[in-house]
Order: sequence, then C-alpha cells, then structure tokens
Amino acid sequence: MSTANTPAAPQWSSRLGFILASAGSAIGLGAIWKFPFWAGANGGAAFIIPFIVFTMTVGLVLVAAEIALGRRGRGSTVSAMRRVGGRAWGLMGAFSVLTSFLILSYYAVVGGWCAAYLANAVTGDVVSNDPAALRAQFADLVSTDWKNLFWFAVFLLLTAATAALGVERGIERLAKYLMPTLFVLMVVLIVRGLMLPGAWAGVEYLFDFRWESVTAASIRDAMGFTFFSLSLGAGVLVTYGTYVPKSTSIPKASFWVAVLSIEAALLSGLMTMPAAFAFGLSPDAGPGLVFITVPMIFERIPAGGLFAVLFYVCLLVAALTSSVSLLEVVVAFLKNEWHFSRRAATVTSGALLFVLGSISALSFGSWSGFTLFGRSIFDCLDFICSNVMMPAGGLAVALLMGWKVWETTCTELSTPSGPGPAALELARVLLAYLSPILILATVYQGVFF
Ligand code: PFF
Repeated sequence: MSTANTPAAPQWSSRLGFILASAGSAIGLGAIWKFPFWAGANGGAAFIIPFIVFTMTVGLVLVAAEIALGRRGRGSTVSAMRRVGGRAWGLMGAFSVLTSFLILSYYAVVGGWCAAYLANAVTGDVVSNDPAALRAQFADLVSTDWKNLFWFAVFLLLTAATAALGVERGIERLAKYLMPTLFVLMVVLIVRGLMLPGAWAGVEYLFDFRWESVTAASIRDAMGFTFFSLSLGAGVLVTYGTYVPKSTSIPKASFWVAVLSIEAALLSGLMTMPAAFAFGLSPDAGPGLVFITVPMIFERIPAGGLFAVLFYVCLLVAALTSSVSLLEVVVAFLKNEWHFSRRAATVTSGALLFVLGSISALSFGSWSGFTLFGRSIFDCLDFICSNVMMPAGGLAVALLMGWKVWETTCTELSTPSGPGPAALELARVLLAYLSPILILATVYQGVFF
C-alpha cells in the first residue's frame, strides 16, 4: 500500500522552498563545472543562445509536465506514472529510478572531488601558481584509489544525511539556506574577477557569437546541456512534484526554476572566464578548469585563500543540492513501493551507491585500463545516462503528458490566473511535438556521431 495522500505524505512547506529545491537540483556541477568550458568551446553566444531558447521552451514545458505528473500521481515516480498513465508507464517510472541511481553513482565521485578541494582550500593547499603542481595534485586525488574513494564516501554521506532528514527538514532547508548563499558567493567572486586587468576579454570570449562554431554538434550539445542542467528525464522533478501542494502554480514555479538555472549558468561563466583570461589561462581547459585552472587565480589575488574557500563552498553546495535530488528519487521509490522507512531507504541506497560508484571512482585509478567501447566506466555511465537514459525518460513524460493525458496536464497546469487557452495550446505544441522531435534528434546525434 502506498503512503500517497495519507497525512504522512511529505509536502514542501512553502512555494519558495520548492522552487529553491528544484533550482538546487538543476544548478549543480552542470552549471558550474561544465557550462563555462562548454560554452567557451562551442562558440560562446552561439551555444548560450540555443541553450536559453531550449530552456525557455521545451525545457520549461518538460519541467512543468514532470511536476504536474508527480503532483497528479503522488507517491514515487513509479506510482505517479502508473496512476496517471497505467501499468506499463509504471515501468518507465522504474526506469527513471534506475537512471537517477546510475547518475548519482558517478556524480558523487565528482562531488567528492569538490569536497576534497574544499578541504584543500581550507588548509591552504590549493593555492599555487605552478600549473604542473596543480595538475599533479588533481591527478593524485583522482588516481589514488583510497583518496578518491574516501572523498566519494564523504560526499555520499553528506547526501544521505540530508535525505535522511526528510523533505522539509533536510532537502528544503538545505536549499533554502544554501541556494541564496551560492548566489551571493558567486556575485562576490564575479565582482572580484571583473576587477582584474584584462578580465573583459573573458566576458567577450563567453558572449561573443562565433558563427563558425554553430554546427549540428554544438546545437546537440546545447540541447543535451539543457536537459542535464534542468535535471530532466530522471524522475527528479516528478518526485519533487509529488510533494507540491494543490495551491502551487506549476507554470510559475517552473518558470522560476528555468530562469534560475539559466542565471546560475551565466553567473558561473562570469565567475571563471574573466579571471581565466586575466591571467592568460586556457579558457577551454575542459573538466580540469575548476580544479586546475581556477586555483591559479586564487594565488594571484589578495585574500586568494579566502576566495578559494568561497569558490569550493559554491561548488560543493551546488553538487550537494543536485545529488540530494537524485537520491530522493530512489528513496521515494523504496518508501512507497517497497515500504522502507526513510532511514532504511537512505542507508540501503547509500550502501548500494557506494558499491556501484566505487567502480566509477576506481576507473580513474587502478581500473583505468578497463574500458568499454573505448571509454572508461565513468565516461560510459555518463554517456549512457546523458545520451540515452535521460532523453528516454524525458520522451516518456512528453508522450504521456502531451498525448495520453493532455486533459489532465491542462488541469494540473491551470490556475485561476492562467495560463489561458493560447498559452496552453503553445505548451501542447512544445510538449507533444517539438520535445519528442528534439529529443530524438539529440539522441541520434549523440549516439551515432
Ligand atoms: N542538474 C544537475 C547539474 O546540472 O549538475 C545534474 C542532474 C541532477 C542531472 C539531477 C539529472 C538529475 F536528475
């Protein structure tokens, strides 16, 4: 028997809490770690504009559709899909639980690096102007099995502890305090970076429209990034939607989640690129940007040690509010379908995640020789989740909410103050036609090219 609709079913205590928790899920390593170097490498504004357009169109309606599905169905993503769509759709819900579980297993490895770098920043070990030393430090962390596993476990424990506290006391409170802190810290770092001589070149690099970079692959990457950064297709927003009270306007909340996620990506670009340019550092340093390039910035500014701590706090906070959302999908499933208590669900999934995630962690160290289709285990999981599983989950939501139960979707999206019939018609076109086409095109491009 499900706990749905019983007094014990948890709810967000406020609309703001829900929006910040969802934005917290969206704003994570994607925005802060991936966005700056992806945008730089993919043509600046030529990447940013499609990203914003995708986010405010198909992204926005998919966010709203996932939340509507959760609120209508209640329980977990499995029971929500089963109740709204019928038995077979429950299987798609189970697929989303698996997707979240797999994403979290490798996401937490990078989360562990953030925790390790915060510890290094506190002890002053991260501030150096020697690129070789910084590269060696990063390589040492990721390739020394015990270190990588230790920080991975620390990050997983932080995630599990938050989830164990529950929706309101754990997830909502974390987001309510930490998301505003994140924005303030980012603004402080941006202002500091922009004051450096030569910083403006970084702003130009980020926002310059480079036509020559517009390719099918860059558009695909913008779409893929939109999907990943909005946490779509993994059951996260469906699960968060199950805790949304009837009085909340889903379109308004979705709008804010989309806007905040764009804002965070832009802020994080502004936080890293100008400073990187001011010091003549490579702007397309890739994944190493925040762990190897950024530390060099701190060495060269007054009170750099303090700014280093602030920066890694940002990174850790962003990663944590996202990882908690992924774990909540699994916890809600275990609670509602298999009748686990919240604590037992958290401990069990945490332990299983540790086992599975260790494989990803070790793929940087002693198992680095083991590859599948030419990729390490970590890269394989990221590829499958980002290019196949998340899009498949998003497609299922688009088909269910845009076609099978469109009337229900309209009911969930409608409030006394709107949206009107024209806006709903537009949402239908975006959800039922455009999203499936774009998702399939992205998968095709991602898998075959
Ligand atoms: N949106 C998160 C980020 O950009 O880092 C990552 C993520 C969280 C992806 C939750 C998928 C998900 F379900």
